[in-house]
Amino acid sequence: MAATTAKLIEVFQSGQERSGVLDLPGSQWPQAGQYLPCQRDDDSIIQPLPINLFRVIGPESGLSVSPLPENWLPGDQLNLLPPHGNGFIIPESARRVGLLAFEVPPLRLLPLIKPALAQNASLTLFIDPHKDKDILNWIPSIVEIVPLSAFAENLSWLDYLAVDLPLERLNALSAILGDTKLTFSGQVLLRTAMPCHGVGECGVCSVKTQHGWRFICKDGPVFPLAEVINVAG
Ligand code: FES
Repeated sequence: MAATTAKLIEVFQSGQERSGVLDLPGSQWPQAGQYLPCQRDDDSIIQPLPINLFRVIGPESGLSVSPLPENWLPGDQLNLLPPHGNGFIIPESARRVGLLAFEVPPLRLLPLIKPALAQNASLTLFIDPHKDKDILNWIPSIVEIVPLSAFAENLSWLDYLAVDLPLERLNALSAILGDTKLTFSGQVLLRTAMPCHGVGECGVCSVKTQHGWRFICKDGPVFPLAEVINVAG
């Protein structure tokens, strides 16, 4: 698929992240968990590597994405590549859906609320509420909010779990889940630097999985949970 362009029509703050709204047609939107390699139109010399933008929750006026560089402003023209990688897919049969924002803002998980509610699932968001008070305004009251510290007690409730976490915290998640067989399906968005987004196979984004080494930029960034936890590494 070819590259495309979009205008940055709005900038907003989500917790500690700077986010923006793009006037991109709905047919070109990434799924939650996929990313858009992006450069501002006149930045290719001073900023040769793309910024990888993830879909987040935000105003309904367009596609909300994050994280936005500090110097990008409303009206800027952006060059975008098509959605990259695998996104989250909630199994149709899941009726008890958990969203686990593991020591990060839940922004990238919140676009899953609509599809989960559309299939009549009950939703629980595991989050540290002290850090992200303003983000809670985006969350409908039907979503139960549970402190991160209570996550381990709720594992047996889950049909499906979607996780967002930095790659370096994967071992911490494995420690919480333990080495018992999971009784629910799950996916995890692993976030790390992805400077070449798979073009140059630079290896910066490598992760060891149950099936050997993989590139997060191409084989993820969303992986089946069972493939990446408890991998000695
Ligand atoms: S970012 Fe270069 S291989 Fe993934």
